[in-house]
Amino acid sequence: MTQPTLFTAGNTPDAPRSDLPDLLHALAADLREVGYTVDGVAELLGPSAYAALDRDQLIPALIVTESAAQGEAPAAALAAVVRFWLLAVPQDPAALDDALPRTRAEGLVALGLAEAVQAGEAAEAGEAKVRPAADLRPYAWKDAAGEGATGSGGAELWVASDLAAHQRPGVLRRDHVLGIGQASTTLVQTTIRRHAKKALDLGTGCGIQTFHLLHHSEHVTATDISERALAFTRFNILLNAEALRVDPARPEDRLALRLGSLLEPVAGEEFDLVVSNPPFVITPRIAGEAAGDQFTYRDGGLPGDDIVATLVQSLPQVLSPGGTAQMLGNWEITAGQSWESRPKSWAGVDTDVWFIQREQVGPEQYAETWLQDASENRDRKHYQEAYSAYLDDFASRNVEGIGFGMIWLRRPDAGTRRVYRFEEITYPIEQPVGPHLGAAVQRADWLAANDLSAAHLLVADDVTEERHQRPGAEHPGVILLRQGAGLRRTNLLSTELAGFVSACDGDLSAGQIIGALESLLGGYEDFDGVAFRSALLTEVANLVRDGFLLPAAQD
Ligand SMILES: C[S@@+](CC[C@H](N)C(=O)[O-])C[C@H]1O[C@@H](n2cnc3c(N)ncnc32)[C@H](O)[C@@H]1O
Repeated sequence: MTQPTLFTAGNTPDAPRSDLPDLLHALAADLREVGYTVDGVAELLGPSAYAALDRDQLIPALIVTESAAQGEAPAAALAAVVRFWLLAVPQDPAALDDALPRTRAEGLVALGLAEAVQAGEAAEAGEAKVRPAADLRPYAWKDAAGEGATGSGGAELWVASDLAAHQRPGVLRRDHVLGIGQASTTLVQTTIRRHAKKALDLGTGCGIQTFHLLHHSEHVTATDISERALAFTRFNILLNAEALRVDPARPEDRLALRLGSLLEPVAGEEFDLVVSNPPFVITPRIAGEAAGDQFTYRDGGLPGDDIVATLVQSLPQVLSPGGTAQMLGNWEITAGQSWESRPKSWAGVDTDVWFIQREQVGPEQYAETWLQDASENRDRKHYQEAYSAYLDDFASRNVEGIGFGMIWLRRPDAGTRRVYRFEEITYPIEQPVGPHLGAAVQRADWLAANDLSAAHLLVADDVTEERHQRPGAEHPGVILLRQGAGLRRTNLLSTELAGFVSACDGDLSAGQIIGALESLLGGYEDFDGVAFRSALLTEVANLVRDGFLLPAAQD
């Protein structure tokens, strides 16, 4: 049965309120007027303090904004807002009243974005201050050319989430609502954007993936196991209704918010596109632990990498024919096995699959990263116990490494699999990579549907050839084909493949070029023409698949 949407609720405890439309409207107008935009903040802080803030280092921005906040309007107003929400510095209500005159400090408190400093703390912070109850920051993107069928050029938004570890004392709350982080933007950039009738954002958090989906999907369903996360998403969507093209009076026309675990809230439905940055962090399970003991933003509550395995196995069930799912994940690498052994064991035989491993770390580094992430490294005794628990947990499954990367799945509309790739790409790639991944899938489909030997091919514009030759040698020892864009692949060419590529000007078909090379290089005793043609055609197919060679327009 379809779950009810949550657009009836707007007042979830400990989350910003979205049932006060006049105040939301006032806040959007104030933030616009004060210039609280990505560019506005960057200009106020200057490049080095802005870059430090990006690394969660607040001190340079505190120094830069201190004098600006005491100075003249309008810089003083913007400085007050930046110090409040980005640097978590309590402010005099009067400073916020001046900076945000329609909303005022009182309105921010009503919206759940600010709270009065408690009596005991007031002396320390100065009398009658307010402090942020959430993070609220500008976020903007520009659509890449051709991105999304409803291509709008991009959007400028303000996004609320919980204050992060570097903005508040102590260990994070267990139901922490994550802001826009590195993993969020990795998935944003990896997503292949095309028009979708129905899209799903599984584990929406503050709603980041949903904002992008709304730009190229007719309807988006955002789910989460956390009611607070859905409340933040609802707030963010209504605060930015205009930029997201949502009618604040009828948001359900474009969006459903559903509470529940994994696919439970969408059982029986189908989507053209599913994106998920799931709680994939591998976490040692403790006997007797309750759901409330887990950091929901990163821990799905299952042992090992089971959450990612479960999603890879079950997501195809909610895809429409030809529908795709993209997610990020961690996977365990068992000692003595290749990294792709486990991912391969999850992928259903009737699903198109593409895994790209971007990084691999050992158990120690993994434990350090995630204990630090939730500020669990501040108490020495707790840190030692928690660190040991990670190592014991990995050792219990004979895990020697943990892989991180992106996963693309498709329910083939023709019923047969066309893509089955597991590859490791750890060097920097072009971002956003989504359009390049989309083009690669199209080329795989083209290869499956066409006779390559009859095709006329051209070398892609971003491809260069590199020849390495010992001084005085007659021929190059190594010939490399390099791709400047997208996944920036390098291909080591055999002599015959190099000859093939150099003849790809669209004039002759692939079969004709291979025939000419066979006449030129073959003819000697034991030469196997069939094997030669077949091996070369396979190598040519790989170059087409990876985008070094492209079918000429007539194909
Ligand atoms: C890593 S955060 C991703 C947030 C956001 N989508 C992004 O890209 O930054 C994972 C989200 O999944 C939610 N979550 C955790 N367990 C879940 C489950 N079993 N089913 C659905 N969502 C879950 C968390 O509450 C959290 O909001």
